[in-house]
Amino acid sequence: MTQLRPNDPAQYDDLADQWWDASGGFAALHWLATSRAEHIPPARDPGAVLVDLACGGGLMGPHVARLGFRHVGVDLGLQGLRVAREHGVLPVRGSVLAVPLADGCADVVVAGEILEHVEDDVGVLAECARVLRPGGTLVLDSLAATRIGRFLTTTVAERLPGGPPPGIHDPALYVDRARLLAAADDLGLELRLVGLRPSFRDAVAWRLGRRQSVRMKPVRSTAVVFAGYGRRR
Ligand SMILES: C[S@@+](CC[C@H](N)C(=O)[O-])C[C@H]1O[C@@H](n2cnc3c(N)ncnc32)[C@H](O)[C@@H]1O
Repeated sequence: MTQLRPNDPAQYDDLADQWWDASGGFAALHWLATSRAEHIPPARDPGAVLVDLACGGGLMGPHVARLGFRHVGVDLGLQGLRVAREHGVLPVRGSVLAVPLADGCADVVVAGEILEHVEDDVGVLAECARVLRPGGTLVLDSLAATRIGRFLTTTVAERLPGGPPPGIHDPALYVDRARLLAAADDLGLELRLVGLRPSFRDAVAWRLGRRQSVRMKPVRSTAVVFAGYGRRR
């Protein structure tokens, strides 16, 4: 593998064969995809659209199909989009900072584990608000710009099974939650943040090969991994 700088999106091309390996480098993204899906209401009609910003390898695919949406995935990575298409995603190559989709086209927008990968997280939130129809649902998750968050999600988690591939994160890009909430309000989004952590019991069972996946549990503190659940006014 070529040596790439932290957070270089090209890392995902090198890791493309791991997207659907539930015990590989993207294991925790499988757990988060399940958690996200629990906060998405079923499609209200067969044409309903879910836009998955930074869809990667399309791990939301089975969940979105079960909920009855047309699943549009936007990502920069061609390898990821190719994998996502194999899992029912309509792939669109583009940046989450300039999404090539029409205003108000989405009934649901999902932005999973992307805000901490861009220089302009509020710019991504603005794109979420733009493509979401009034009353539409927003589900996001990301990593908090705190000392404990940086320590646990890089220094610790990169050394643990199920943790992120080393160098995939640049902790300098982690998200300021107060700024995000203020921006959401300005953008016409009602947004509440909830902390998430993996179930420790599940994680042990998963590591021992006794579970396929690990449940994400809501926690009061949003200082490490957090989800955002909202709607456009
Ligand atoms: C941590 S992965 C998350 C993938 C997916 N949301 C999930 O949770 O399984 C981050 C994804 O963001 C994509 N990405 C990074 N910067 C991007 C940008 N500016 N525009 C679109 N996609 C981007 C990468 O290619 C990668 O697929």
